[in-house]
Amino acid sequence: MLEADLLLEHAAELATPVGPAPRTGKSLGSLRIIPDAAVAVAGESLIFVGPTRDAEAKVRLRGDGLRLDVSGKTLLPGFVDPHTHLPFAGSRAAEFRMRLEGRTYEEIAAAGGGILSTVQATRAAAVPDLAAGALGRLDRMLEWGTTTCEAKSGYGLSLEAELKQLRVLEEVSRCHPVEIVPTFLGAHTIPVERRAQREDYVREVVEEMIPRVSEERLAEFCDVFCERGAFTLAESEKILEAGKRFGLKPRLHADQLSSGGGAELAARIGAASADHLEFVSEAGIERMAAAGVTAVLIPGAGFFLMSPHRPPARRLVEGGVSVALATDFNPGTCPTEAMPPILVLACLTLSLGIEEAITAATLNAAHSLGRSAKIGSLEEGKQADIQILDIPDHTHLVYRFGVNHVETIVKKGALAYRRPASRMRRSP
Ligand code: NIG
Ligand code: FE
Repeated sequence: MLEADLLLEHAAELATPVGPAPRTGKSLGSLRIIPDAAVAVAGESLIFVGPTRDAEAKVRLRGDGLRLDVSGKTLLPGFVDPHTHLPFAGSRAAEFRMRLEGRTYEEIAAAGGGILSTVQATRAAAVPDLAAGALGRLDRMLEWGTTTCEAKSGYGLSLEAELKQLRVLEEVSRCHPVEIVPTFLGAHTIPVERRAQREDYVREVVEEMIPRVSEERLAEFCDVFCERGAFTLAESEKILEAGKRFGLKPRLHADQLSSGGGAELAARIGAASADHLEFVSEAGIERMAAAGVTAVLIPGAGFFLMSPHRPPARRLVEGGVSVALATDFNPGTCPTEAMPPILVLACLTLSLGIEEAITAATLNAAHSLGRSAKIGSLEEGKQADIQILDIPDHTHLVYRFGVNHVETIVKKGALAYRRPASRMRRSP
């Protein structure tokens, strides 16, 4: 008999990707679906995933273990959000109003707003305030089903201010159940005081920031915003190659606002991911598939920027590219921490299937963070990161859009969040 600390029984449905990651082509949309499902956990790990009747024969609950009847609920792996800009200060609500009145994101950025306005607020913020902001956002992520997120610096743009953001990430990850994968994004844009000597800023990123971030073990990945108005292809390559030499794996913002060969660069340097890809070229798609670069699609940013351009999601899937989904949570282009609306947009605006979107938001996202052996699916031996949703099946996750269906979140085998019971409800 298997000995469990936690046993979830009689779920209406369990839905999870299974098998080796990444899931590409047809396998992106094939989930394991188990009706009347059970999951058993020992310590931090899943020891049983299957029909409840099999659990009854195979699993014994320890004396102090917890048994939950989850009838009527759906079990899913925790979401893995592979692209967020978590630590920042300030709000860009005023710029949002300007965009509603017709100004574009790039116009606002060129006039000193955009990323630069968040840089100003973030530089000025005290560490406890930045940490408090990040913790509130992590709470909201967890409440909406995210159990692991990638998080970028990039609103410091000086050695000290970048280190400050990364240290905040380190601090909050020690006291919050959501696991954080930190990324150094010193090359988010050229800071305003360095615009006359951009080569000098690139040199500082390469020669000072990357070695220090690596020495202090503050990041796992190095990212660059490769875009007109941000960093050129040659600058991006130089920075990402320097990151590689210091043990920071490359990922990049590529082909978001214009076609610039970012996807091809990602393939050439062996990046873990190329993100956005609204303007990816056909050659870029082929090279990403051949090099195993994950396409992290971000339908929330295109939607929020009211852009008519969409990444060619179906072409990426059919071309054999590993596809993942992310919020890109940030104050300018996608100010939501919640993954479910991103799945809704992926299905309704990028033509992903519901099952494809779920795999993209779990196992393939975990793969892009180098963690698919441990998280991203409900399989025996993996970490117990589980969403218990108040819906009868996984279709309702997308169909009943705009509503939070999370009832309980299990992270590393422990109850990390439970929706409070309504105090207003009267007994019948
Ligand atoms: O992913 N593209 C660059 N970075 C963010 C936007 C950041 C901001 O506007 O503050 C993005 O869309
Ligand atoms: Fe981004």
